[in-house]
Amino acid sequence: MKKPKKLVVGNWKMNPKCLEEAKKIASDVKRGMKNIKKTQVVLCPPFIYIPAISNTASTSIFVGAQDAFYEPLGAHTGEVSFSQLPQFKVSHCLVGHSERRARGESDEIINKKVTAVVSDGMTVVLCVGEKTRDAHGDYLSFVRGQIMADLRDVSKKSLDHLVIAYEPVWAIGASESMAGRDIHEMAIYIKKVLREIYGLPADGVKILYGGSVNVENISDIMKNGVDGVLVGRDSLDGKRFGEIIKAVEESK
Ligand code: PGA
Repeated sequence: MKKPKKLVVGNWKMNPKCLEEAKKIASDVKRGMKNIKKTQVVLCPPFIYIPAISNTASTSIFVGAQDAFYEPLGAHTGEVSFSQLPQFKVSHCLVGHSERRARGESDEIINKKVTAVVSDGMTVVLCVGEKTRDAHGDYLSFVRGQIMADLRDVSKKSLDHLVIAYEPVWAIGASESMAGRDIHEMAIYIKKVLREIYGLPADGVKILYGGSVNVENISDIMKNGVDGVLVGRDSLDGKRFGEIIKAVEESK
């Protein structure tokens, strides 16, 4: 059987400052993908840059959104709906990033968003992760609770369109990523929770790690049972991001 491809997602957040820079990042990433065969990449720029970089989309580079709204149309000032995205070749969407959760997004809203993304035929990159770590392992039940609530009533047939990004909130935007053995523990634990909900078909769901992933730590991170990474800061430099992609490609 062919080995599933690894996945590297770049979350640009509210960057860069202008369209020219956005186009440059996208074209640098595209150039760096020449010899990449076993890894797929998703670029998640702010909405306003999506139409301009949607021509980067290919069989190995996908365009993703960082969030959207679950209603398809209507009186929702300032929102963009998931259904408006595929016309710009958007195939993936982050949902439940901790920076959205910090602005009050509840598991109930996230569940509606997950449901809307998969019913529009896109792939959801569901972000989960604890705010703090404790000595009693409460972070495990916290993450379990998020997964259970966020995937409520999401059917088994949507599993092909589901990716889980585990991002411990305290490791996002920090100086170091989480320790390898802890990443490993969480990757196994999340797979177990998914199995509990969906049975064996859940084994195909990719698990990513996110939180201060960079060129220096990527090779070690990939030794810990994850199928890829979600990168913030280091996805804004096409060359550094390219090196991360290369390291993922070379990982076992
Ligand atoms: P970081 O961000 O790589 O800058 O820590 C990761 C994220 O928020 O997805």
